[in-house]
Amino acid sequence: MASFTLAASAAQFAGAKLDSRRAPAPRAQGRRAVTVSAGPKRVMIAGAPASGKGTQCELIVEKYGLVHISAGDLLRAAVKEGTPAGLEAKEYMDRGDLVPDSCVVTMVVDALDTPDAKEKGWLLDGYPRSASQADAIAEQGIEPDSFLLLDVPDEKLVERVVGRRLDPETGKIYHMTFSPPPADIVDRLTQRSDDTEEKALNRLKVHHSNVEAVVGKYADKMKAIDGDRAKTEVFAEICGIIDEM
Ligand code: AP5
Repeated sequence: MASFTLAASAAQFAGAKLDSRRAPAPRAQGRRAVTVSAGPKRVMIAGAPASGKGTQCELIVEKYGLVHISAGDLLRAAVKEGTPAGLEAKEYMDRGDLVPDSCVVTMVVDALDTPDAKEKGWLLDGYPRSASQADAIAEQGIEPDSFLLLDVPDEKLVERVVGRRLDPETGKIYHMTFSPPPADIVDRLTQRSDDTEEKALNRLKVHHSNVEAVVGKYADKMKAIDGDRAKTEVFAEICGIIDEM
């Protein structure tokens, strides 16, 4: 059992708030102000399971050089390493439930609190997934410039989940139908243990019961994006948003 608690997390980081807020850029007077910031960009990306968060993150990182922080990847790494948080998280992840805040908050805060993320900007994927997670990072002064929400109809998501394959060598995400891998790497591809229809349906249910609370925390930064299009079209819309940040 992990001994860490959310209260401990807040205490641990009290007085060491991350310098992740930028001074607002001056707004043009009398016409629509397009605020383009010179500082590092801070982006959150959210959406249902298999809505394309990881796929878009690959493209965003390639173009903008932001540091990609995926809560799911951090948790899977912790499970693999057998850390206390990973051991506790595993049973929740196996069911497709949200892991307790005590497992995930510190991981994410630590990942954001690196020189690289502060200097290059960050792209936070799959966090926060509850109001309490949003509050936990807000207490550290961590706010995004933009909160992107990928919207894909539920009936498309299960098909995306079960067809997903991952390349352990490059980290690239494929789909056996929608984004097929090159023939010479098919044998080395892996499938996530939670990428079954049954678990996907539970993950989807969990997403629906939490998403409104999270969106409510970032209403002024939220951009809903139709994720049910070719990934290049989705990416073009995201680029338009990031370029204006
Ligand atoms: P996590 O790893 O974050 O999983 P998820 O949110 O369910 O999202 P996925 O990684 O499944 O999908 P994605 O949106 O990245 O889609 P992708 O781009 O791969 O979390 C896993 C678990 O960890 C959770 O269930 C929970 O237990 C735990 N967890 C994580 N964060 C947590 C938190 N903050 N708090 C508590 N617990 C947490 O695409 C999917 C497939 O679709 C791919 O095959 C891809 O090729 C294809 N595809 C992508 N875009 C398109 C497109 N435009 N058209 C057609 N196909 C596409």
